Amino acid sequence: MLKKLSFTLIVSAFMACFGGYASGQEAQDIIKSRVEGLRELGAAFKNVNDELKSSSPQIYIIQLSARQIRTAAKAQYDWFPEGSGPLPGRKTKAKAEIWTHPDDFKTAQDAFAAESEKFTKSVAAGDFNEIRAEAKQLGQTCGGCHRTFRVDDKR
Ligand code: HEC
Repeated sequence: MLKKLSFTLIVSAFMACFGGYASGQEAQDIIKSRVEGLRELGAAFKNVNDELKSSSPQIYIIQLSARQIRTAAKAQYDWFPEGSGPLPGRKTKAKAEIWTHPDDFKTAQDAFAAESEKFTKSVAAGDFNEIRAEAKQLGQTCGGCHRTFRVDDKR
């Protein structure tokens, strides 16, 4: 109990030293809204893949999903502010490497953003073979970031 309390005090003191860092509650809220955004992104991408697998893919569902993915690709740049990383007791799968290797993380974000533009263009053109190829590329940009910057689900 005492141990836990002193740990909390140390963490609070640590956070207080960095004025620009998000407070505990603030960080939880940031994490919550980024996870919501990522779930919506996951759902949109799943809808794309479900349609592409179907024998009669609905282009309008893919168009709608492409728009959501593109919106997420722009919004993601605000989803990982300093101070919203992992700390004991925080529910996040974001790895500390996001903040210790910001250039690599930005590269992963940019790869996703660039691919979401290419995907959107293929959807506008409406050729399913091309859409399929770009959806695959897009999926690789998700995995590319998750492999390095997200805690493995199996752990
Ligand atoms: C630049 C890095 C990056 C890219 C690109 C990225 N993600 Fe993620 N994703 C993360 C991180 C980090 C988390 C963990 C966030 C957390 O728990 O705070 C995550 C979590 C998620 C989650 C889990 C949300 C939950 O319920 O906990 C889903 C679903 C997801 N991403 C889907 C996707 C899909 C689909 C794509 C591509 C279309 C994608 N992500 C692209 C970094 C990324």
